[in-house]
Amino acid sequence: MELTYFGHSAFQIDVDGTKILVDPFITGNPLADGVATADSLSPDYILLTHAHGDHWGDTPDIAMRSNAIVVANFEITQYLSQKFGHERVQPLNTGGSWEFEWGRVTQTDARHSSSFPDGTYGGNPNGFLIEAEGKTIYALGDTSPFAEMAWIGDDYSIDLALMPIGDCFTMGPRLSVRAADLIRPSLTVPIHYNTFPVIEVETSKWEEMMNEAGYATRVLSPGESLDL
Ligand code: NI
Ligand code: MN
Repeated sequence: MELTYFGHSAFQIDVDGTKILVDPFITGNPLADGVATADSLSPDYILLTHAHGDHWGDTPDIAMRSNAIVVANFEITQYLSQKFGHERVQPLNTGGSWEFEWGRVTQTDARHSSSFPDGTYGGNPNGFLIEAEGKTIYALGDTSPFAEMAWIGDDYSIDLALMPIGDCFTMGPRLSVRAADLIRPSLTVPIHYNTFPVIEVETSKWEEMMNEAGYATRVLSPGESLDL
């Protein structure tokens, strides 16, 4: 399994040739500049954590061109079907999961908000537990730590956590250590930082805090891949 980061919260997982794209904010994402364009991506699946523009991003364009199955909360999949006529969707809601040919996706809670760029209600925000090839990836979505993360830590052995650290709109570096204490991931990759001035973070300082608390980290540059 290979994971490629596009900057902000956008990344793609390749499971034996099946491409799963998460939160495809590519157009207008300064970190994706020179790394990827919406046209360069042809995923089989698109997973959306919530409806905010910096996650929803290029979803309609990429989904319709590549005929990808979009996995998201009910409100997001309904918006996509009604507004864009894209019927290849798998709606979920918090706590629900679905088995695909390549693995299982479970929607977790996330402490945030969720509305489309045009103001339409986007349901509740989520994270995803992605289980494939015997590994578990936890994409936290936009969130602060919350107490029930401890249940996720108890019930799942998390090989990789994609954790927001940019502060302001999500947890920052300090609270991300608290989240790691709850979910105890083998490896944490930071996301949702350095895209805009308000979410700038010194990653070396974040890594120091995480490593001191006993958690392995890996900072990915946009365009960089990780084998899992
Ligand atoms: Ni958001
Ligand atoms: Mn966001």
